[in-house]
Amino acid sequence: MAVSDKTEAELYRDSVPALVFWYAYNARVLPWREDPTPYHVWISEIMLQQTRVEAVRGYYDRFLSELPTVEAVANAPEDRLIKLWEGLGYYSRVRNIAKAARLLCEHNGGVLPDDYDSLRSLPGIGDYTAGAIASIAYGQRVPAVDGNVLRVYARLTAYREDIRAESFKKHVRKMLTDALEAGFPDRTFGKGITSEGNAAAEGKTTADGNATAEGKATPGQFNQAVMDIGATVCIPNGKPHCDVCPLAHLCRAYAEDLTEEIPAKPAKKARPVQKKTILLITDGERVLLHRRPEQGLLAGLWEFPNLEGHLTPEGARKAAAEIWNEATQSRGTDEPDSCRYQAHRLKDCRHVFSHVEWEMRGYRICVAPGAAGETRNCLPDTEGTKAGGGEYVRVTADELEAEFGLPTAFKGFKLQL
Ligand code: ADE
Repeated sequence: MAVSDKTEAELYRDSVPALVFWYAYNARVLPWREDPTPYHVWISEIMLQQTRVEAVRGYYDRFLSELPTVEAVANAPEDRLIKLWEGLGYYSRVRNIAKAARLLCEHNGGVLPDDYDSLRSLPGIGDYTAGAIASIAYGQRVPAVDGNVLRVYARLTAYREDIRAESFKKHVRKMLTDALEAGFPDRTFGKGITSEGNAAAEGKTTADGNATAEGKATPGQFNQAVMDIGATVCIPNGKPHCDVCPLAHLCRAYAEDLTEEIPAKPAKKARPVQKKTILLITDGERVLLHRRPEQGLLAGLWEFPNLEGHLTPEGARKAAAEIWNEATQSRGTDEPDSCRYQAHRLKDCRHVFSHVEWEMRGYRICVAPGAAGETRNCLPDTEGTKAGGGEYVRVTADELEAEFGLPTAFKGFKLQL
């Protein structure tokens, strides 16, 4: 039967065995596939949102070696969780993990539920993550639809509209749910993935979590197969590798030579650019940090004090004097003596958030001891002070490295400390 003769439902249905078979021999070897407990799958899937697989590996191992159970997460101090997440971005993800962990400990014995709807009701768990946990950890026949899946099925069915539309996501979820319900390959496809490699491809038998004990295909294998095809074969940028794709014989975009036109690329909205001045205010031993407000971008995280706009060295010295006075609560009747503050321009940095871009100018501001009795130790070390403009703390470079999670936006300046 030619590709064009198949109905859309048939394309979805026929993709399932083709992908599962491919996966048995081509699955990527990834740490979270070795022992896919509900907790492991949960943490890995949250980390993998908006983050590349290669970037997640190290974070995943570090997080689980320090917090091996749901209870450990529920009891961890928030600053420690943020430190473990430092550099991954989107910090509400780890805060939601902690909230959900506390709920699970309170109401469910620290165990993640095994059904999609209960998973979906937990903080930070959306359709995709609920589907991933239910299918990979519990073997439920539910899809896990993310951007990779949308791209693969847009090409398979030659869908030419914007794949980010909620209506398309809903449609793909429905079609995959039906395809998984309709049937599942009832045969052995090898034994899955281990730290030593792809067991099926190497002809090994191992006790693994990705296949059933008999080595039968599972819904989790299917969902991870689409993720792997999307990441390695049906790629987002550049020409997809259709010559090695197990879906090529079904694919309408391939048949019609549309693989580079699909998915459609709607015009990107320009991100607003904000100019900022970042101040590394240091007394020679310690540097000043400020806690951001509890609402808004990077809510509640530590930062180097900063101001809107690009300041001149003189403007930076004055601003630093006011911030230092506020932080040390030593505001007196005199104007801050900005002669105590030396400003050294640092290398500019830029950071791109999802909806805004920061163009940052930086200064190291060296503060000399004050004339009027103020000593270097007027601000408590590490413990912090609540002043009018928020909470400040003065830390050494080692303390910053070990204990304080600083958003990636400030990393370029941290390296210039
Ligand atoms: N991306 C999101 N989830 C994934 C998973 N379980 N394996 C590989 N890539 C992924």
